[in-house]
Amino acid sequence: MTSVRLLDVHKRFGDHVVLRGFTAELPLHGVTYVVGKSGGGKSVVCRLAVGLLKPERGEIFVLEEPVHTLPERALSRLRARVPYLVQGPALLDWLSLERNVALAKPGPDERARARSALKRVGLSGLEERLPPEVGPGIKKRAAIARALVLEPTCLILDEPTTGLDRDAKAQVNETIAELKRQGTGALVVSHDYASLEQLADHVVEVKDGLVGYQGAAAGFLALARQDDFGERPV
Ligand SMILES: Nc1ncnc2c1ncn2[C@@H]1O[C@H](COP(=O)(O)OP(=O)(O)O)[C@@H](O)[C@H]1O
Ligand SMILES: [Mg+2]
Repeated sequence: MTSVRLLDVHKRFGDHVVLRGFTAELPLHGVTYVVGKSGGGKSVVCRLAVGLLKPERGEIFVLEEPVHTLPERALSRLRARVPYLVQGPALLDWLSLERNVALAKPGPDERARARSALKRVGLSGLEERLPPEVGPGIKKRAAIARALVLEPTCLILDEPTTGLDRDAKAQVNETIAELKRQGTGALVVSHDYASLEQLADHVVEVKDGLVGYQGAAAGFLALARQDDFGERPV
C-alpha cells in the first residue's frame, strides 16, 4: 500500500511522552496533511517514518517496508523514495540553483536531471541564479526540486510554508498541487487551514499522543467548522 502505517507506536524523550500508542495510516498518494498542536509530535511522526528516530514500541511500515527493523542501507533507499524535507530552504548560497539540485544525485546526467526537476516546480529559466538572488518561495521550490531528482513516490514536507509571506506561500502550495497532478504525493505538516482546504485529500491529526482525526479532508474541515461554532458533540 502507498502509505505510512504506524501501529501502536510509543515514543518518549526522557520523561516526556510524545506518542503513547499511536496507530494511523497516512496515505502517500495525493496530499495528506498532518495537523495538531505545536509540540504535539508531528515532526516526530515524520522522523519515525523515515527512520531518523526509533520508537520504544510499535511497528512502522512505509510503502510496506518495516522501517523499525530495516538496516541502514535499505533505509537510505527508502528515504530516496520518500524524502523528508525539513523546515528552511537549506540550499548552498554559493552554488546556482541547478548545481544545488544536481548535488542530490551526482552523475553524468546530473545536469539534465536538475533541469528537469527545476522545470517540474516551475523554475525553468532560473537555473543559473544563486539562492541569495531569489525570493523565499523560489528557494523552497528549488529545495523541493532537489528532492525530485531522486524520483520519489511522495515528499514529506515539514511546515513548508511556515514563515513565508503570502506570495511565497502561494507559490509553494501551487507547486504541491502541480506535483500531485504529475503523480507525486505529498505528506505535509502544516497549521495552515486555508492551504489544507485548498490542497488536502486526507488529514491525520496528532492529538495528546494519539490520533485525533484520520480520514478525508472534507470530514476534518466539517468538524473544525462545527468546533468554531461550539457545536462539536462531546
Ligand atoms: N530529539 C528530541 N529530544 C528531546 N525532545 C524532543 C526531540 N524531538 C522532539 N522533542 C519533543 O517532542 C515533542 C514533539 O515535538 P515535535 O514532533 O517536533 O512537535 P511538532 O508537532 O510541533 O512538530 C516536543 O515536546 C519536543 O520538544
Ligand atoms: Mg514540527
